[in-house]
Amino acid sequence: MTAAAKLLKWYDRHGRALPWRQTRDPYRILVSEIMLQQTQVDRVKEWYRRWVKQFPSWSRLAAATNAEVIHAWAGLGYNRRALVLRDIAREVTARGVPRTESGWLALKGIGPYTAAAVSAFAQRRRTLPIDTNIRRVLGRLLLGQPFPMMEDDKRIRHTAEIFLPKRGRYYDIPQALFDLATSTCTKNPTCASCPLRKDCKTSKLFMSGRIEIPKRSIATAHERKHRNKPFPDRIYRGRILKLVRERGQVGNREFGSLVDTTFNQKLDQAWINTMVEGLVKDGLLQKIRNKFSLSN
Ligand code: ADE
Repeated sequence: MTAAAKLLKWYDRHGRALPWRQTRDPYRILVSEIMLQQTQVDRVKEWYRRWVKQFPSWSRLAAATNAEVIHAWAGLGYNRRALVLRDIAREVTARGVPRTESGWLALKGIGPYTAAAVSAFAQRRRTLPIDTNIRRVLGRLLLGQPFPMMEDDKRIRHTAEIFLPKRGRYYDIPQALFDLATSTCTKNPTCASCPLRKDCKTSKLFMSGRIEIPKRSIATAHERKHRNKPFPDRIYRGRILKLVRERGQVGNREFGSLVDTTFNQKLDQAWINTMVEGLVKDGLLQKIRNKFSLSN
């Protein structure tokens, strides 16, 4: 049996029943993929269900205001994604649903990963979306790299050309890889229970116990942090937006002590200002007569 066939067999028994796997609607698939960027699957499930109920189609989302989508997105994080998604819906409503991967890629806010994912899952194109999960599994399986990096993507893509079936359920392979990545081929993998351990170029090395598992991922190490604050800026930006959402209007000088218990006017006001200005620049907030509110 080929490695791909083993993987699909495993997926049929152990794959997760996720709501976006029960549809081939490109709109719903795109919503799920944008939500899944930087957000855990369990969290996305709840927001996805609510979102598709509130905005069931491209045209319904296209008609939504900034404030409506920011409210619906509240709690998911990386809030810019809400506006990006709505703007894509406007573009698609005006010009039609792309039919090719390059058509998806041409939309503002859609990168190579998302273009490939929507093409594969909604349109059953034979293509490979590579995110951190898929990179980890395929880098190990095909290249013998215990902790593959973005630089390895070209070689992964090249080698996967043989791994990916030519016919049949090639479009399910990435879905199966997501599940293998989170259940088995984790940062510190459990190779003993992996369906691909005999095909894998790294399993022996892992099972020998001679591999040191890095403590932190590079992504978390690179998040921006101010002074000695306990959280990355991303968390404070989320709090600023939440405050505005809840109060309607907030003055610049009010944010500090409300979003940061250790706020020090002298040391932290400029930092707060920069984050608030960033939210304005991203189209999430607007400033009217020295008060900030959700942009409309
Ligand atoms: N991560 C990114 N896309 C995903 C999907 N469709 N299912 C599970 N995890 C994912």
